[in-house]
Amino acid sequence: MKKITIAIDGFSSTGKSTIAKELAAKLKYVYVDSGAMYRAVTLYAIQRNLISEDKFFKKELIKELKQIQLVFKFNSALGFAEIYLNGVNVETEIRNMKVSRLVSKVAEVPEIRKKLVEQQQKMGKYKGVVMDGRDIGTVVFPDAELKIFMTASAEKRAKRRFDEFMERGEQVTFEETLKNVEYRDYIDTTRKDSPLVKAKDAIEIDNSTLTKAEQFEKVYKLALEIIR
Ligand code: CDP
Repeated sequence: MKKITIAIDGFSSTGKSTIAKELAAKLKYVYVDSGAMYRAVTLYAIQRNLISEDKFFKKELIKELKQIQLVFKFNSALGFAEIYLNGVNVETEIRNMKVSRLVSKVAEVPEIRKKLVEQQQKMGKYKGVVMDGRDIGTVVFPDAELKIFMTASAEKRAKRRFDEFMERGEQVTFEETLKNVEYRDYIDTTRKDSPLVKAKDAIEIDNSTLTKAEQFEKVYKLALEIIR
């Protein structure tokens, strides 16, 4: 069977990574969470005191980019690859509210995007990859054979993300989560470099009322039609 590239883009908390992970497992493809890379760079900037709510030492962070090593290592118990920042597994830490509040500011910086996009393109060089993010079908893999664009109402998305925060025991309110989802949507869609837009040839899926199984079936069918 021929191997293809599958790009899954969309708004925050639309369940992109859930579907991308399932799809990669079923097709025996590599799954790459590009958002984890932007989050890991943000965590690095926080650890180095280069960013907070009221300051961002952008030039310093750009200078330090060479020192940031991001590696995905497959965790067979979990069934997907976890991200390591300079040798440390940061898969859980990058999902906290602090990183969520600052990540879109970091992701606006063209020099940072350039570095991460190059790395993402290398990871997808031999196809057989499912990558999710904001610019995968438009910038990273404009020739991807299957492009999915996922949407859902902001309330639904915030509810999903809030439930994840609660499961991890994070001290956040629903209102704060909703605000963060809307804030990131705004920055991600209005930034100059690689804004979040639906690629012309992407298939849009609004999963506000779809179950996980229904949305998976839909996308899996689309992938098989192309692969066969
Ligand atoms: O999981 P969630 O939908 O909340 O977001 P994510 O995929 O972890 O991405 C976090 C942030 O990284 C996004 O809000 C974007 O600002 C940025 N991002 C990006 O700019 N380009 C990508 N390809 C992936 C993420």
